[in-house]
Amino acid sequence: MFSKKGILITGGSRGIGRALALLFAKDGARVSICGRNKETLLSVKEEALALGASQVYTEAIDLRDVSDVKKYYKNTVSHIGSIDILINNAGFNSRKAYLWEYGEEEFDDMFAVNVRAGFILTKLAFLDMKKRKEGHIVNILSTACHFNNERMSIYTATKKAFQGLTDVFRKEARPYNIRVTGVYPGGTDTKFRKEARPLYMRPESVAKTIYNALSVPPDVVVHDITFRPMVETNF
Ligand SMILES: NC(=O)c1ccc[n+]([C@@H]2O[C@H](COP(=O)([O-])OP(=O)(O)OC[C@H]3O[C@@H](n4cnc5c(N)ncnc54)[C@H](OP(=O)(O)O)[C@@H]3O)[C@@H](O)[C@H]2O)c1
Repeated sequence: MFSKKGILITGGSRGIGRALALLFAKDGARVSICGRNKETLLSVKEEALALGASQVYTEAIDLRDVSDVKKYYKNTVSHIGSIDILINNAGFNSRKAYLWEYGEEEFDDMFAVNVRAGFILTKLAFLDMKKRKEGHIVNILSTACHFNNERMSIYTATKKAFQGLTDVFRKEARPYNIRVTGVYPGGTDTKFRKEARPLYMRPESVAKTIYNALSVPPDVVVHDITFRPMVETNF
């Protein structure tokens, strides 16, 4: 399905991003992933190549850094060629705390990774996709957008900010035949939290659900998808 397609996934060193990279690798895609840890990226690269990826580019960068983000996009295109699908996946919650306990630095870091990096990559990818009149931009949001959970104010604010960007951009990208999809996963058992959550979804299951949403016919645009583990279906 995605053979030879160029797919850039932020935060591909573990969790949902890694699972996505490996799924697209099986199809023979050209894959680019980033994260801060060079070794984990290289080990995902090995796995992806063994599974059949046609090319894999990895770069250790900090998405909080604007120049790193811009350099990463440029290097990706020069190493693996044009990007057909951008998946803004990387994101984090510094900790669970009441609003008055958060520092400004935490606020800035969460907004930098969860919103600004995705904004910059979306802009750069769009300008290239626009010329080809095709492309797909996928933003990983969260059911946190629907929950308004206490002790998650900044993280929730970043995801709602990125949700707003996603929904407006979908309309702006329409004249250029570029699809924009917002993904709202529920709890997933990754290193996103310190403690394991065995009743949450496996990252591989989340990746497969996203993969399926991207596998629709070209005349279909999936606006957004919300999905959860069974333990969260009472919300
Ligand atoms: N897990 C959940 O329950 C859940 C639920 C809903 C939505 N989500 C969203 O799903 C996305 C993926 O989450 P996940 O559960 O797969 O998390 P994860 O296992 O913690 O993976 C996060 C990825 O992002 C990278 N990353 C984080 N900060 C970075 C930075 N400053 N610069 C570069 N890379 C950075 C990490 O690599 P390094 O640490 O090596 O930099 C890692 O590859 C996030 O946007 C998250 O908000 C998660």
